[in-house]
Amino acid sequence: MIVVTGATGNIGRRLVDRLLAEGAAVRALTRDPARAALPAEAEVVRADLNGADDLAPLLAGADALFLNLAAGGDGAAARLIDAAAKAGVRRIVLNSSMGVTDTPADETNFISRMHAALERAVRDSGLEWTFVRGANYATNTLAWAPSIRESGVVRDAHPGARGVPVHEADLADVAAVALLDRTGAHLGRAYLVTGPEPMTVAEQVAEIGRAIGRETRVERISEDEAVEAMSGPHLPKEAARELVRMFGGTVDAPPFALSDAVERVTGHPARTFAQWAREHAADFS
Ligand SMILES: NC(=O)c1ccc[n+]([C@@H]2O[C@H](COP(=O)([O-])OP(=O)(O)OC[C@H]3O[C@@H](n4cnc5c(N)ncnc54)[C@H](OP(=O)(O)O)[C@@H]3O)[C@@H](O)[C@H]2O)c1
Repeated sequence: MIVVTGATGNIGRRLVDRLLAEGAAVRALTRDPARAALPAEAEVVRADLNGADDLAPLLAGADALFLNLAAGGDGAAARLIDAAAKAGVRRIVLNSSMGVTDTPADETNFISRMHAALERAVRDSGLEWTFVRGANYATNTLAWAPSIRESGVVRDAHPGARGVPVHEADLADVAAVALLDRTGAHLGRAYLVTGPEPMTVAEQVAEIGRAIGRETRVERISEDEAVEAMSGPHLPKEAARELVRMFGGTVDAPPFALSDAVERVTGHPARTFAQWAREHAADFS
């Protein structure tokens, strides 16, 4: 039995499908099973990981856990790691971040700090582990969908900011292999998982335009305006400022390290952003 946190999320949905297709038994956690629209073959279980519920029943009889920080945040994740060890779960595959580099840079921004702390907690748990250190998710660009639909214009402080957008299905595929593996080949491994090519914000916006058959463009705004637009109840201003500065830092940085982990681990090449944009064209139209 494999427990999947964040099962209705970008990665979680793909992961549940993939695990079921491989014949695994899956317990999919969601706060609202009625709205989750998860496959009937999965055991869909209600869980608010921020609540006061006992976590033991969620993990009972499970061999492995896919742990996504998005499902309740770092406090919930830390409690789940503890509960998994107590419940006799053998393996954790942690959805971590490319922000973790095992260098002092890990302390320089809140994303890296949070994921690095979780990686430490998983290592310290004594359980088997694999870390999926994803690059910037292609799904981040869904935040542009309202303005692309409305005007074709994306407002961003750093149109030249570079990333290596990664498809959620590739993250799920890597996680699935690590969860199901019986050879031990992926234990104790931290995989940097990137898309196949570096792209600027402007290039991603243009690619979305090609996918939807409309002209799209980036309009440059100040860092303060970007912080204002990005911050809200889930992202305090200071954290938004760290992010905007981090993106700005990629404009003139040395080229991104591309990883071949998707191909090495899953046997298929990483999906391109162009493919992602075509698959998500309806979101931007
Ligand atoms: N974005 C990036 O560029 C990036 C890069 C590297 C790493 N990451 C990591 O990836 C994570 C995002 O993964 P994702 O895109 O797959 O997530 P996502 O699509 O945001 O999905 C998160 C799921 O978590 C569930 N959830 C939220 N609050 C919950 C709670 N209190 N209790 C239980 N479940 C809860 C929700 O499901 P229900 O509504 O069904 O409960 C939601 O579908 C980030 O948090 C970060 O750790 C992101």
